[in-house]
Amino acid sequence: MENIVNEINRLKKERNAIILAHYYQDPSIQDIADFLGDSLALAQQPQKTNADVIVFCGVHFMAETAKILNPEKIVVMPDLNAGCSLADSAPADKFKKWVEEHPGHVVISYINCSAEVKAMSDIICTSSNAEKIIRSVPETKPICFAPDRYLGSYLIKKTGRNMVLWNGTCQVHETFSEQELISLQRKHPEALVLAHPECPENILHYADYIGSTSGIIKFATESSSKEFIIATEEGIIHQLKKKNPDKIFYPLASLNGCACNQCPHMRVHTLDKVYNALLNLEPQIYISEDLRLRALKPLERMLELSR
Ligand code: 13P
Ligand code: SF4
Repeated sequence: MENIVNEINRLKKERNAIILAHYYQDPSIQDIADFLGDSLALAQQPQKTNADVIVFCGVHFMAETAKILNPEKIVVMPDLNAGCSLADSAPADKFKKWVEEHPGHVVISYINCSAEVKAMSDIICTSSNAEKIIRSVPETKPICFAPDRYLGSYLIKKTGRNMVLWNGTCQVHETFSEQELISLQRKHPEALVLAHPECPENILHYADYIGSTSGIIKFATESSSKEFIIATEEGIIHQLKKKNPDKIFYPLASLNGCACNQCPHMRVHTLDKVYNALLNLEPQIYISEDLRLRALKPLERMLELSR
């Protein structure tokens, strides 16, 4: 292990590369990352670096976003199979039809979608800026929101804006068990419940705090409470514990106690694959210039509104 980490660091210098990772990565990947963040921070970070190569340890839509915003940089993803059930729930042809069925609507898409879907959207959002972005749309304009219906329902409640929702879900967050949550709360009555807004309503209902992965880490770190039940992908527990060694975190389990609270897509990257990506500068993210320019517009609107 020490050997491969040394080799990764050597190649990183040689290639003038940086490693970006999402909080849902395996702890071994989180520990070698130069930068960890939520989807918004991971979209903003590549523009702040003068690295020539970005090794993206996240899922495909994240690496694709990095390439759309930084076409001059080489973006490699250690395993190209890292997809996302939410992004897959909105195929471009069906999405196009849906948009056409709602003329005059402002189309807001969660960043968990393909470049083709981004290109057909007016503004992109993440879980950390969605509320602000929805509020930026004039009250008179109807809104279509895609692809996460749970995040969409949560935002309708939060903003009071009635939106037309695409019927997509995250396979990790939708399987959290309410029964498990109730039983964890009985065992640990002092624990606060921190949840990601991709969770269904029956889980969010119990939450003391709802926010993005970075938001959850910030809340737990600043809170005077000592115990927390965490309703999002289990990888985040690694950072929570690192930043708060004196606090206790209980990951919420899924139905039947299965390990479904680990995202199978996020977890495909390994140290060996990171090493190979740095060595071969493959697999790379490629995107046609025409599609890139169309997907860039709604991303730039998001970045402007997030300043
Ligand atoms: P955030 O890190 O932006 O909260 O997103 C969570 C997620 O599911 C990414 O796919
Ligand atoms: Fe997609 Fe859910 Fe995995 Fe995030 S946790 S990458 S939304 S499948």
